[in-house]
Amino acid sequence: MSIPVLKAVFPVGGLGTRFLPATKAIPKEMLPVVDKPLIQYAVEEAYAAGIRQMIFITGRHKRAIGDHFDAAFELEYELERGNKNDLLRVVHAIKPDDMDCIFIRQPRPLGLGHAVLCAASVVGDSPFAVLLADDLMLGREQHQGGATVLQQMVQAYAQRPGMVLAVQDVPRAETRRYGVVDVHGVNDTMAEVFGMVEKPLPDAAPSTLAVAGRYILTPGVFDSIRRQPRGAGGEIQLTDGIAALIGTEKVYAFRYDGKRYDCGSKEGYLEATIDLALADPSLRDAVRAHMVKALG
Ligand code: G1P
Repeated sequence: MSIPVLKAVFPVGGLGTRFLPATKAIPKEMLPVVDKPLIQYAVEEAYAAGIRQMIFITGRHKRAIGDHFDAAFELEYELERGNKNDLLRVVHAIKPDDMDCIFIRQPRPLGLGHAVLCAASVVGDSPFAVLLADDLMLGREQHQGGATVLQQMVQAYAQRPGMVLAVQDVPRAETRRYGVVDVHGVNDTMAEVFGMVEKPLPDAAPSTLAVAGRYILTPGVFDSIRRQPRGAGGEIQLTDGIAALIGTEKVYAFRYDGKRYDCGSKEGYLEATIDLALADPSLRDAVRAHMVKALG
């Protein structure tokens, strides 16, 4: 039987330079899509998958994330006084009572592997999820009660324990933006991974199956990351830590049913904003009317 996944790590230490000047004083994870910051989408996805301990790996200038998941006495007091119960519910829902938030500082930005390693002592000896908040993931028909991407992964993990990596097909020209896996059965929903490379050039990529920002990992990955030299971009890479365990531990590529928005890029961020606005019944008509006008 598999051990349940109850902890999630959110590496949020990056500088977000692609969104300057917006990210000069606020973390990129606090950029809103419609009315919710990116980090909240990721935390809600983890919560929906049964995870209750959220571990944020932060850096300098990330205080706003801690504030967001903290109580806001003055705001709540004012909303209560004004009988604004709907808004009060929105504010309370950010951090349900049974959810713990833990903040760990990454002293230096040495890469995604290093960020995940910063969570080692808190994660301990259990499986855990990693969610990259600038990948906004929507499970198919999630709005109508369909499973979130991490829920799908947790279900897959329960059937075949091991490491589970969310993957999607990308154009070969784009492999250098991702970790890329080598699998037999590229079209299977769940395929065993035989190799994995971080940011390969198109010619060197073992496939066009790229890792999206959702992982279920086993604690063995920490020691493996510790053993890795600096990899692509001179950084300590999570991909290298996982790749070194292939053969010792089972690693699966999981084709999720849903959509990924790369909100680390302006294009992806705008697509997410448009799609989520169109999915919101209170905004749909106005947004659609505006788009017709703007394009006409
Ligand atoms: C990171 C990972 C990469 C993965 C990607 C998904 O890269 O290192 O393997 O495919 O996230 O978004 P980054 O986007 O931080 O460069």
